[in-house]
Amino acid sequence: MSHHGPMHAQPEVGLRPDSPALPRPESGEQHRGSAWGQLPATSLRSRHSALSSTQRQTWDRLWPELGIDALAGSSRRGPVDTRAWFGRDAPLVLEIGCGSGTSTLTMAQAEPHLDVIAVEIYRRGLAQLLCAIDSESATNIRLIRGNGIDVLKDLITSNSLSGVRVFFPDPWPKARHHKRRLLQPATIALIADRLIAGGVLHAATDHPGYAEHIAAAGDAEPRLARADPRTETLPISIVRPTTKYETKAHDAGSAVSELVWRKPKSDD
Ligand SMILES: C[S@@+](CC[C@H](N)C(=O)[O-])C[C@H]1O[C@@H](n2cnc3c(N)ncnc32)[C@H](O)[C@@H]1O
Repeated sequence: MSHHGPMHAQPEVGLRPDSPALPRPESGEQHRGSAWGQLPATSLRSRHSALSSTQRQTWDRLWPELGIDALAGSSRRGPVDTRAWFGRDAPLVLEIGCGSGTSTLTMAQAEPHLDVIAVEIYRRGLAQLLCAIDSESATNIRLIRGNGIDVLKDLITSNSLSGVRVFFPDPWPKARHHKRRLLQPATIALIADRLIAGGVLHAATDHPGYAEHIAAAGDAEPRLARADPRTETLPISIVRPTTKYETKAHDAGSAVSELVWRKPKSDD
């Protein structure tokens, strides 16, 4: 693969308050108009998104077909017709915060029977993934630029996802920033709603405090049950490639927690 670009652990960089993707970064304000109550207002960070000329050319050529802009203020409304978008009817996986898409591509290639939607706010990460999709001729990946919470809420229907992946979400380590974390009880409730019966939520983090926070939220969600991939057959693989971000975490001595839940079927 040719796209092992930099990952995105820049803890001090906050999205500008006037960004269309970040309504009120300092206020702790919750998602307005949400039926999901306590959805975090944001977990986003700013990144400069200048594309190389190759990335720009690939973007211009492929984005109209493979990408959807769901940033706040975009005209995109209503659920995505994934069958039409992928040109087939296959089990669907949503990855939130794909970064430059290292895991997305590797896992999609390993599971060609799945259709994968990668959600990311960071345009250059999506451009890197688009370039890799192009060079690898991957056919089962589509991209959405936007906030994963908005995407789940507005573009994805209930009982439609076989899997949701969240790998190394920004940990927001300071206590006063915990409300910005992506994986909160309300986000997990939303994910549980979007999963089909038998569907899987797979999160990974190298931050022990965030791991505990995610574990507590997932375990408290009544529609999810912990899954043991060693003994259960799951509809999606939980085998991830090691990304640059993860390598840095390992080098810094951090252990990685894998957190996996399944939405039980009625006959389970
Ligand atoms: C620490 S990076 C990890 C990237 C990748 N998953 C990996 O394992 O290398 C977290 C990524 O999540 C993205 N992100 C954070 N909050 C998001 C949100 N609400 N919706 C979509 N992407 C988000 C960031 O832009 C960043 O690229």
